[in-house]
Amino acid sequence: MNLCVIGTGYVGLVTGAVFSDLGYTVYCADTDGSKIDMLNCGKMPIYEPGLEEVVERNTQDGRLFFSTDIGDCISRSEIVFIAVGTPPGADGYADLGAVKAVAKTVAQNLNSYKVVVNKSTVPVGTADIVREIIIENRVDPQVDFDVVSNPEFLREGNAITDTLKPDRIVIGASCQSAAMKLVELYAPLERPMVVTDVRSAEVIKYASNSFLATKISFINAIANICELAGADVHKVAKGIGLDARIGTAFLNAGLGWGGSCFGKDTACFIATAEKLGYDFALLKSVVDINSQQPAFFVKKINSVLRGLEGKKIAVLGLAFKPNTDDLRDGKSIEIMAQLSALGAEIRAYDPIAMDNARKAYPDVDYCVDPYQAAANADAIVIVTEWNEFKFLDFDRLKKTMRAPVIFDGRNMFDPDRIRSKGFEYHCVGRAAKDRE
Ligand code: UGA
Repeated sequence: MNLCVIGTGYVGLVTGAVFSDLGYTVYCADTDGSKIDMLNCGKMPIYEPGLEEVVERNTQDGRLFFSTDIGDCISRSEIVFIAVGTPPGADGYADLGAVKAVAKTVAQNLNSYKVVVNKSTVPVGTADIVREIIIENRVDPQVDFDVVSNPEFLREGNAITDTLKPDRIVIGASCQSAAMKLVELYAPLERPMVVTDVRSAEVIKYASNSFLATKISFINAIANICELAGADVHKVAKGIGLDARIGTAFLNAGLGWGGSCFGKDTACFIATAEKLGYDFALLKSVVDINSQQPAFFVKKINSVLRGLEGKKIAVLGLAFKPNTDDLRDGKSIEIMAQLSALGAEIRAYDPIAMDNARKAYPDVDYCVDPYQAAANADAIVIVTEWNEFKFLDFDRLKKTMRAPVIFDGRNMFDPDRIRSKGFEYHCVGRAAKDRE
C-alpha cells in the first residue's frame, strides 16, 4: 500500500517514518524545500531519539521518500495523511490555512479513490470543511474519496515509541469501508482501536490534551496549597494517584506545562466551545493556573535570595521538557525574563536545546556545561528535568558556586539527599523543609 504524508513536522515525519518501517511505501511531502533537502541528505530537522535510524533504514531500503512535489506524492498514494501545522489564530481558534491549502491540492490530484486522513490537530467540523473543499476543486467529479479523522497522541521525545505502541488508535469515519482501510493499515501494531464517527474523533484529541493539562494544573494548585499548609505534594500525588480511578501519570507538580500542543489546544478548545455556545470555565482556570506558576516560583527565588539585583543565577534546562530541543512555550524563557527583570545575571545551559536557544534568544550567556553555568552563582534554578542533571557532581558544584542554593522547578531531587550534600534546597509544593 502506498501512503502519502503531507507535512514533515513532528507528527508527519514520525508517522511517515514508522509506517515505512511497517513495510508500507511512504511519500513524505512538504513545501519547505530546505527541510526536504535536509531529509534527503539524511539529516533530521528535529531532535527526536531513534528517528534518524528509522529514517535512514527505510530510505536505504527504498520505502521512504521525501519530496516537495506534493501533487505527485498524492497521485501515487491510496491514503493521504494531512499532517501540516495548525498554529493558533488571533482568537485562539486554530488557523486552518495550511489544512485548507492541502485539501485543495488533494482535490487537484485526485486521480483515483483515496482516503484523506486528518492527522493535524484540527477543531471539530474540520473534516467537513476538507470534504467540501475537495468536492469543489476535484478535477474529476466521478472520482470518489472519504475523509477520516485519525488524531495523533505522540509525545515529543517519545515519538517513535508512542507511534509504535499507542495506548489507542482513534479512527473517526463516516463509512465502514474508509474506517476498515485505516484499521487494516494499523493492524500490524496490534493496539486497541476506537472506531467512531468523525466529529467524536475530532473532539477526542482536544479532550485528551485538555484533560492532561487539567491534571497538571490540578496538581500544581494542590502544590501551592501544600506549600501553605506545610504538606508535601510528592506524597499527596502518590496518595491520590494510587486510586486507579485517578492514576499516577501527569501528577508531577512543577513550573507548569509547556510545549507546542497544550497551550494551543486548550486555547482552541475554549474558542471552539465558545463558538458552539458553551463557556468552558473549567479549562479557562486550568490555563490561568498554568500561567501563574512561573511567577510564583520567581517570587520564591526573589524572597529566599532577599532580592535578585546583581545576583548570578545558573539556569539549567531550556527545552520545554527533557529529550527534545523544542523551546516552544517552555518555561525557561519566561523564568529568565522575570529573573532578569529583577536584576539577576543569567547563565544558562541545556544538553540539547542550546542551538535553538541561541537563535531565538541571543542575549543570554550560554555555557558549555552545568559547572560553567554555576561558577560563582548565587543559586541554580532547574527548569527542565534532564536525566543528566540527576548525575551532577554536587561536591564540584558546591565548590564552584558562591552559595550552595538550588531551586528545583521540577521536583527532580529527593530533598533530603540534596540537603545532606550541604545545599539549601527549594522546590515546588514541598514546603515543610523549604521554610526552615
Ligand atoms: C502532548 C501529549 O502528551 C500527547 O499525547 C499529544 O499527542 C501531544 O501533546 C500533541 O498534541 O501533539 P507533548 O506536548 O509532547 O505531548 O508533551 P507532554 O509529555 O505531554 O508534556 C507537556 C508538558 O507538560 C511539558 O511541559 C511537561 O513538562 C509538562 N508536564 C507533564 C508536567 O508539568 N507534569 C506532568 O506530570 C507531566
